[in-house]
Amino acid sequence: MKTLLQTEPIQEIEVDALAVIAYDKESVAGGLGTGAAKLVNELTGGWVGELYSSGEFTGKLLETAQLYRPPNMKTRRLFIIGGGLPEKSTPAEIRKISGTVLRHAKSKGSRNIVLALDPNQATEEGIVAAIEGAVLGDFEPDRYKTDRKDEKVVDQFGLALPAVDRNIETGHARGRILAESQNYTRDLVSEPANRLTPLLLAEHAQRMAVEYGLECEVLSKEQMQQLGMGALLGVAQGSTQPPALIIVRYLPPATETKAHIGLLGKGVTFDSGGISIKPSEGMEKMKYDMAGGAAVLGAMRAVAQLRPPVCVTAVIPAVENMPGGRAQRPGDIVTTLSGKTVEVLNTDAEGRLILADALTYAQRLGCTHLVDVATLTGAIVVALGHVYIGVFGNDEQLTEKILAAAGAEGEKVWRMPLDDEYKEGLKSAFADIPNIANRWGGAITAAMFLKEFAGPTPWVHLDIAGTAWLEEAKPFMAKGPSGVTVRALARMVADWRD
Ligand code: BES
Ligand code: MN
Ligand code: ZN
Repeated sequence: MKTLLQTEPIQEIEVDALAVIAYDKESVAGGLGTGAAKLVNELTGGWVGELYSSGEFTGKLLETAQLYRPPNMKTRRLFIIGGGLPEKSTPAEIRKISGTVLRHAKSKGSRNIVLALDPNQATEEGIVAAIEGAVLGDFEPDRYKTDRKDEKVVDQFGLALPAVDRNIETGHARGRILAESQNYTRDLVSEPANRLTPLLLAEHAQRMAVEYGLECEVLSKEQMQQLGMGALLGVAQGSTQPPALIIVRYLPPATETKAHIGLLGKGVTFDSGGISIKPSEGMEKMKYDMAGGAAVLGAMRAVAQLRPPVCVTAVIPAVENMPGGRAQRPGDIVTTLSGKTVEVLNTDAEGRLILADALTYAQRLGCTHLVDVATLTGAIVVALGHVYIGVFGNDEQLTEKILAAAGAEGEKVWRMPLDDEYKEGLKSAFADIPNIANRWGGAITAAMFLKEFAGPTPWVHLDIAGTAWLEEAKPFMAKGPSGVTVRALARMVADWRD
């Protein structure tokens, strides 16, 4: 889909669908505002006002109405999209509005769509959000559907603006990079486990790295044995699919900071639970247990194009967690790369085991700050539902950075506690640490476990088990993989200051 910025008067725009934003009926001019909706109402001799007076449209956020062949305009269809209260028109709302316009117009067969923005929305951040919304809205996880008879395609999405300057053009470019990288992640996450094994994930990473000028290295099982990554290898041993440790590096020619950021992502291509096997209901969803790894790859893809002056290394431990004759047993004791021993009381708590070795390895590679992303616990879904990402950290500054970056990208993050009291349950009679405690506060227990392996290095953990997969389609996004944290990670790196 091509995206473009255009400045011609909206009555001259000749497309399949032109959308204007009309606001809550309690606001300026009964919701018509002072921009595009007001102009369209005048051109059509009051059509928009009539939608309000009939009660068919009230201007609530994302409400839609459609008119055909509006007089004195060249567009075929006119969409009116609810903008809510104009004073609350944030980039997060613009992103949803533009995604909804794209999906709504696309569902009606429009191939050429324009959204008119009002002057207060035509800022750099507003354009970033509007372009992101459209590119994200266009994504469908339908690669394996062979019947394409009623497939709809959008060729072109334009933003009609009062004027275009350098900042707005930058916003257009940035929005495309971020949203396309997020869609790249969503594509990876929607791959089923038979088509995305650890080695195939590594191949994807290698191909992406070549395309965007990044370095990529993949450690084999033998190399991991040499290093002594007992925790990662213990999880991998039940599967016939060999594990891979994927390392992707962004090393800019000149850096302006001393920091070397490590981005770590859980890459479990399928999580059956292992010997502590999961119930069969819903197990098919565990193909998305590599969403953290895919988000880190998507963020690297964006960073490679945004070119900030800071070093970033991604580390993705990729394994398949399976039961079988070679599988790790409850009670097994493994020696991690750090030297600490772990008693594996539950083989389904595998994400923290592979991340433990990845955290140690990232520090050996010289990373000074660590951010991991993982579909780590069902408990975070109990705590925060499908709305907020859980954020844990051992360092105020780094935690603030991630909270700010996610906030600016409209990704909802909620800070969780990590007090020492939570460590009490993590005691093993036979090894240094067990991989589970009792059932309460499970997301925090998992984070406490990871914290042991971050050591003194500033570290933040994002638990995305509840947010990586949309159970239901939204008006602005398809059901399935959300690609959450790609934009937050990329922005944190792009905005990095020591
Ligand atoms: N991958 C799961 C967590 C998960 C649950 C992701 C639901 C997405 C949706 C993780 O490996 C896991 O199985 N965690 C266990 C930990 C328990 C055994 C302590 C869990 O949350 O039940
Ligand atoms: Mn598990
Ligand atoms: Zn898992």
